[in-house]
Amino acid sequence: MTKSEIGLIGLGTMGAMLALNIAEKGFAISVFNRTTATTKSFFDASGDLAQRITPCDTLEALIASIARPRAIILMVPAGEAVDEQIAALRPLLDKDDLIIDAGNANFNDTNRRAAEAATAGVPFLGIGVSGGEEGARHGPSIMGGGDKAHWDRVAHILRAISAKYDGTPCATWMGKGGAGHFVKTVHNGIEYADMQMIAEAYGVMRDGFGMTAANCAATFDRWNKGPLQSYLTEISGKVAAATDAKTGKAMLDVILDRAGQKGTGRWTAIEAQHLAAPIPVIEAAVTARNLSAQLDTRTEGEALFGAAPQRLAADALSLDDLEAALIAGKILCYTQGFALLSAANPAFGWDLPLPEVARVWREGCIIRSSMLNDMASALSDAPDRNLMFAPFFTGLLQANHGALRRVVATSMTNGLPVPALSAALSYFDIMRTGRSTANMIQAQRDFFGAHGFERIGETGAHHGPWGNH
Ligand code: 6PG
Repeated sequence: MTKSEIGLIGLGTMGAMLALNIAEKGFAISVFNRTTATTKSFFDASGDLAQRITPCDTLEALIASIARPRAIILMVPAGEAVDEQIAALRPLLDKDDLIIDAGNANFNDTNRRAAEAATAGVPFLGIGVSGGEEGARHGPSIMGGGDKAHWDRVAHILRAISAKYDGTPCATWMGKGGAGHFVKTVHNGIEYADMQMIAEAYGVMRDGFGMTAANCAATFDRWNKGPLQSYLTEISGKVAAATDAKTGKAMLDVILDRAGQKGTGRWTAIEAQHLAAPIPVIEAAVTARNLSAQLDTRTEGEALFGAAPQRLAADALSLDDLEAALIAGKILCYTQGFALLSAANPAFGWDLPLPEVARVWREGCIIRSSMLNDMASALSDAPDRNLMFAPFFTGLLQANHGALRRVVATSMTNGLPVPALSAALSYFDIMRTGRSTANMIQAQRDFFGAHGFERIGETGAHHGPWGNH
């Protein structure tokens, strides 16, 4: 019997879609799921692709059906399940068989697993796969981590199944160990921020302008034809246009405002703090999700203090202001995201290829957008330059930061919550303040802790004359 070129364990939504994608691109694949019935129903529903799929009821059968040196993709829930699956697999595998964790792993776990594999002398990859179910089936963005030689063994398959941007596969090796999963984590932090800023603009339209969901939908559709073109702008228009069959109301108007989170954006914020890399827009988005979960507290607060959101005067803001504010907020958010990627390099011994990161995010992933092509160009010209200082983006910020300020100021004045957009504005202002107020912090620290401070124009540490007060 012809051996499969690759194996996959875990036929949940993402795993099943990835397996079909691999088979569709012409690769023979063996599949296994802990629940045998799932494997059977997956195979029975695979149609013409069944000819390239070998369903296996045991790990032993899976391994026996794959050509050596084997490669096996794990699509199991992040965390202990991955370690358990690796522990179950390793004793059955040959020394040069490759395990590929393609789940949403915490990159610190992937760093550990890569180190354990290296010690054992066995191959291991951790790859970030972005694009949800649709992406997994028809073309995700793939961010690889591990030894380059191990990536090269399966790169032809990963590039074949990945999304394409102008024919270029959105699949790249990012670096050793957890580099791929780290890039995916930053992708998800940016995803949270993009989604939050869109939600804040929706709030200004709904509560400030009094617009219906349908009107918001038309606005998002229009914005999606301009600089804000992106998957998230597109789907925001679609969800705003949707009607609830049960009530006939706008779907958005019947959905409870309590956001879920698997925690990927939170990991971004945690790591940024470890690296002292400022990502205030992403942190504001994670906090906004946490606050959305406190629905009862917010309802109590509204009863006590009165509802915050107020209707805006007709000429207070325009939809063009909102669009411009989102353009500025997006640039400032991605500036922070790419700066976080750079900050990880010395900490983890990586050399994350920032232009390539922007390129593989142009298609397939959740944050895919037209602006990412401009970011790829700007980063190619100067990978170490702060993205907002790239001429193209400096120009866009100069043209749009006034609108960001108007939207934030007007929203604040009228109780319309804009935590991510206001974080973007404050970051913009701080990044153009040559004389900040951190001298006051230095004086305070030296007063209570004798921590010392630098004097303008002088070297060495100094202390203030606080001792005699
Ligand atoms: C992707 C998505 C995906 C993410 C889910 C849920 O890139 O395909 O980012 O990986 O896990 O969208 O994420 P949250 O539950 O954290 O919102």
